[in-house]
Amino acid sequence: MSFTVEPLSASNIGCHLDTATVLALHGLYVFPEVDSTNAWALQQGVCGDVCLAEQQSAGRGRRGRQWQSPWGANIYLSLRWCFTPVPEHLPLLSLVTGLAVADALEDCAIHGHGLKWPNDVYYDGKKLGGILLEAVGSQAHVVIGIGLNVNMLPEAGAVIDQPWTSLQQISGQSVDRNAVVAAILQRLVRRLQDFPCLDMAQFQQDWQQRDLLQGREVQVHSGRESLQGLASGVDHCGQLRIILHDGSIKNLSSAEVSVRLGM
Ligand code: BTN
Repeated sequence: MSFTVEPLSASNIGCHLDTATVLALHGLYVFPEVDSTNAWALQQGVCGDVCLAEQQSAGRGRRGRQWQSPWGANIYLSLRWCFTPVPEHLPLLSLVTGLAVADALEDCAIHGHGLKWPNDVYYDGKKLGGILLEAVGSQAHVVIGIGLNVNMLPEAGAVIDQPWTSLQQISGQSVDRNAVVAAILQRLVRRLQDFPCLDMAQFQQDWQQRDLLQGREVQVHSGRESLQGLASGVDHCGQLRIILHDGSIKNLSSAEVSVRLGM
C-alpha cells in the first residue's frame, strides 16, 4: 500500500465547502502541532472556529484517556459552536455529531460503518473514530472534537490498546483528508443548525440506522454496577436503553459497553 502525505490545507478544505457552511463558520485554523485541538478551541477559539492539526502532543479521548495522534496521518478536528439559548436536549449533541460523521463518510464513498453508543465510529468491529464534546462554562459554548483514523500506518497505531482501523485500510488506498474534513464540516454544520429544533422521531430513525448495538447482548459497566442485557436503542435523552434478563428496562447516561462488534 502506498502512503503519500497530502498536507491539511485550509484553502483546499474551503474549496470543497458549500456557501451555507462557509457562512456558518468563523475561522479555519490548521496547525502543524497543538497539544489538543479541543484545548485550542476551548482556550482560544470563538464561535464557529474550526481547529485542525497534523499532530497532537496531548490528544484527549473520552474518560480521561489519551488519543493517539501521530503526524500527518489522521484527522484531529475541533469545532467551537455556540447555542443561545442552550437546547434542553443538549445531551443528544454527541450522538447527533456521530450521525454527522457517519453521513460524511458515506459522502466520501465509505460504506459499512456504524456507531457504537454513544459516539464511537466502528467498522468491522474495529474503532475508526471517536468524538469528545467539552463544554465551556454555561454549556452555551460547546467544543466538538472529532478524531478519525485516515491514513495511519500499523506502526504508528501499534500503541493503541484496542482493535482499530482506518479509511485507508477500508478503501485500500490513501485518502484525501481535506475532502473528508470538508464532508464532515458540511454534515456537522447542517445538523448543528437544525439541532435547536431537533425532530426527535427523525433522530431516533437516523440513530437506528447506524446503531451497531441494536439487538445485541451487551455487558455494561456503569459506576460500580455491571449489567448484562439486550441493547435496545436510545431514549429521548440519548441514554442507552438496555432490556435486562428479568425484562426490566434500564436507561444509562454514562457507561462502558462491551460487545462483539464484528459485522
Ligand atoms: C474517544 O475517546 O473516542 C474520543 C476521541 C476524540 C479525539 C479527538 S481528536 C480531535 C479532538 N482533540 C482532542 O484532544 N480530542 C478530540
